[in-house]
Amino acid sequence: MRVGTVYLVGAGPGDPGLLTVRGLEVLRQAEVVIYDRLVNPRLLDQAPADAIRIFAGKLAGSHSRPQEEINTLLVAHARRGRRAVRLKGGDPFVFGRGGEEAEALAQAGIPFEVVPGISSAIAVPAYAGIPLTHRTLSSSFAVVTGHEDACKVQPAVNWETLATAVDTLVVLMGAKTFPRTVEELLAHGRSRDTPVALIRWGTTEAQETITGTLGNILDKAASLQPPVVAVIGPVVRLRERLRWFDPPARLLQAGTAHGSKTGSDSDGHPMPPSRRLVAARIGRPPHGSKMEAERTKG
Ligand SMILES: C[S@@+](CC[C@H](N)C(=O)[O-])C[C@H]1O[C@@H](n2cnc3c(N)ncnc32)[C@H](O)[C@@H]1O
Repeated sequence: MRVGTVYLVGAGPGDPGLLTVRGLEVLRQAEVVIYDRLVNPRLLDQAPADAIRIFAGKLAGSHSRPQEEINTLLVAHARRGRRAVRLKGGDPFVFGRGGEEAEALAQAGIPFEVVPGISSAIAVPAYAGIPLTHRTLSSSFAVVTGHEDACKVQPAVNWETLATAVDTLVVLMGAKTFPRTVEELLAHGRSRDTPVALIRWGTTEAQETITGTLGNILDKAASLQPPVVAVIGPVVRLRERLRWFDPPARLLQAGTAHGSKTGSDSDGHPMPPSRRLVAARIGRPPHGSKMEAERTKG
C-alpha cells in the first residue's frame, strides 16, 4: 500500500478567515484531521463529512495526549495510505511542536508538507490595533515563550539578554507566569513606564484587552487565564488610535461618527460591519469566559 502524506497545517489564531488558501485546500481533501484545542472548531466543518476527526489538544499541565502518541498517530495514519491533516493553532512551527512532528515523519520516511499559518504572535496584536513594528517606535521584535516549568530555578528565556535587546516583546504561553516575566523585565533594565497589552482570545468575538505599564499591569490583571498574548513596548500606545476590533459599544461610537450602518449581535448589542463579518465567520467564542481582570475601558 502506498503511504499517505501528512500536512502540518497552521489554522491561524481563532478567526477562521485567517486560514490560508492552501490550508483550506488540503483540509477539504483530508481523510484524517488531528486537531488542537486552540483550533476554531468551525474549521473542522471544512473537512469531508466522512473524515476521521481526532482531538489532540493539550492544556498546560494536563496533556490530553503525549506528543509521542501524536507523532505515532500521524505515522500510523499515513502508513494506512491516508491523507492526514495535522491542524494546529497559529503557525505549526511557532511554539507548536510542529518541528518535532516533522522530525518524527522524516525519521519514519513519511512524506509531509508544512502549510504555514498566521501566528497569534502577529495576528492577535494586529486585531488589538498594535503593529509590532513602526517607523518611529519599533524596528525590532522578538517572540518568546512565557511557559516555565514551575520546578525550574532558571527561566527558559534569557531575560538578561533579551529584556532590552528589542523594541517590542511578544510573549506567548505566558498567562500563568506573567508576574515572573514582569519581574525579570524590570530586573534587567526595562522601565516601569513601558506600555504593556494583554490580549486574550484574540481575533475571536471573545477578544479582551488590558493595557497598562510594566509598573501597574499586575494590579490590573490579577488572575490571567490563557490563551493570552502579551505585547510589551511603545507600540502598544498606538492601540488608542488603531483599535478596530474592539467591543461593540466602542466601535458603534466610531461607526456612528463616520455615519456607517451598524447591526446587532445575538444579544442585541450593536455591531459595526467589520465585527459583524467576523462574528459570522466564527460564531460564538469557543470558550467564552471573561477575563477576570478588568477590561480596558473605552
Ligand atoms: C502552544 S502556543 C501555540 C502558538 C501557535 N503555534 C501560534 O503560532 O500562534 C499557544 C499560545 O499561543 C497564544 N495564542 C494562541 N491563540 C491565541 C488567541 N486567539 N488569543 C490569545 N493568545 C493566543 C497564547 O499565548 C497561547 O498560550
